[in-house]
Amino acid sequence: MALKITVIGTGYLGATHAAAMAELGFEVLGLDVVPEKIELLSSGRVPMYEPGLEDLLAKHVAGIEGSTGRLRFTTSWEEVGAFGDVHFVCVNTPQKHGEYACDMSYVDAAFASLAAVVREGALVVGKSTVPVGSAERLAGLLPEGVDLAWNPEFLREGFAVQDTLRPDRIVVGVQDFGARAEKTLREVYAVPVGQGSPFVVTDFPTAELVKTAANSFLATKISFINAMAEVCEAAGGDVAKLAEAIGHDDRIGAKFLRAGVGFGGGCLPKDIRAFMARAGELGVDQALTFLREIDSINMRRRGQMVEMAREVLGGNSFLGRRVAVLGATFKPDSDDVRDSPALNVAGQIHLQGGQVTVYDPKGMENARRLFPTLGYAETALDAVRGADVVLHLTEWREFRELDPAELAAVASSPVILDGRNALDSELWRAAGWTYRAMGRPRA
Ligand code: UDX
Repeated sequence: MALKITVIGTGYLGATHAAAMAELGFEVLGLDVVPEKIELLSSGRVPMYEPGLEDLLAKHVAGIEGSTGRLRFTTSWEEVGAFGDVHFVCVNTPQKHGEYACDMSYVDAAFASLAAVVREGALVVGKSTVPVGSAERLAGLLPEGVDLAWNPEFLREGFAVQDTLRPDRIVVGVQDFGARAEKTLREVYAVPVGQGSPFVVTDFPTAELVKTAANSFLATKISFINAMAEVCEAAGGDVAKLAEAIGHDDRIGAKFLRAGVGFGGGCLPKDIRAFMARAGELGVDQALTFLREIDSINMRRRGQMVEMAREVLGGNSFLGRRVAVLGATFKPDSDDVRDSPALNVAGQIHLQGGQVTVYDPKGMENARRLFPTLGYAETALDAVRGADVVLHLTEWREFRELDPAELAAVASSPVILDGRNALDSELWRAAGWTYRAMGRPRA
């Protein structure tokens, strides 16, 4: 009999995981405590923009014409307990207010509810990003005869479907004598493993740490190149060339070396902070002091972008100056504006009296909700109309494909600051723009 799978928490991670499990051929039941989410998902839709996800849902959600019917959603814990052989816990662990540590209340609540209904012999699999040590504690909440495994998730927004169906590695943490849990998860992931995804089995703490270590490394890479950008600015060097040149060393690698306004989103910033907080509790805070510097280099970038804008506007106040901001999301191909450097810069300039107009291909609704007082335009052209300076802060393809000449004709002053080092500087300069980027010569 094929395993029956439940997915608890249907946010980014859970909704994608549920759809992917159905795609792999399993019967899947997704649970969320928010009834509106369940209603939306049951009609094959998601409350966020993620390429390919709605198509995958429509292919499998029961009740949709032509679907396999393998995927259903519910708010009932009893139903989840009775249904599942394997329960994936995918609830979020946001940063606590006023603290670095992450908020475990959703994970704790999910385990408490699940413990009351789970069948003997079932396997619970944690996917949420948690502080090291959590899995061991949570295992103690489950009834006798129910195993726990920890299986961190590495999906990137914008690539969630592809990262879930063809993960670049599957990491499974099991407790002593975890052979049964490992066997079940090998069955769950038989297809991607068959296609070559490495399957790494380890203990609980290592599995938990793999996730935070990976995110810390990525954050470090970005802040490293941004620190080099600061030095390049002072010394007259070109950070884009520098990144290209060091990236040819395959011990370093070319990816994640794009200097600019830095990282944001719902993961990297909060994960490195939660990691520092946990290291403090473990008495090894010194081991992670460098992450404080990574965080601070990253946050400094936003202020530096604001200062660069001020400088090209004459070095004084933003009062009465018109600033166009291209991009609101923390990265392209997503509508996520959580801790977005783009919106943070837009907000800072607005608070200093600038007339800011933002345009983003997918993030407008979320941006408006978070920063209702900023100006918004329906197109990039409209945002740029009458602008004294244009800030390119999220590297959407749409912005690379803009016609600089068309924009120059409507801007009040053709000055563009590329906060992502992603536009073709020659093209913009040829169309009459003053083009400046972070960490690069002024030309
Ligand atoms: C990240 C991890 O990549 C993923 O493995 C983990 O599961 C969750 O956190 P995500 O938050 O979707 O994924 O975004 P990612 O693609 O990693 O980008 C993070 C931020 O770094 C974005 O704001 C991006 O613009 C920025 N970035 C990325 C840079 O500034 N420079 C780069 O070279 C790369």
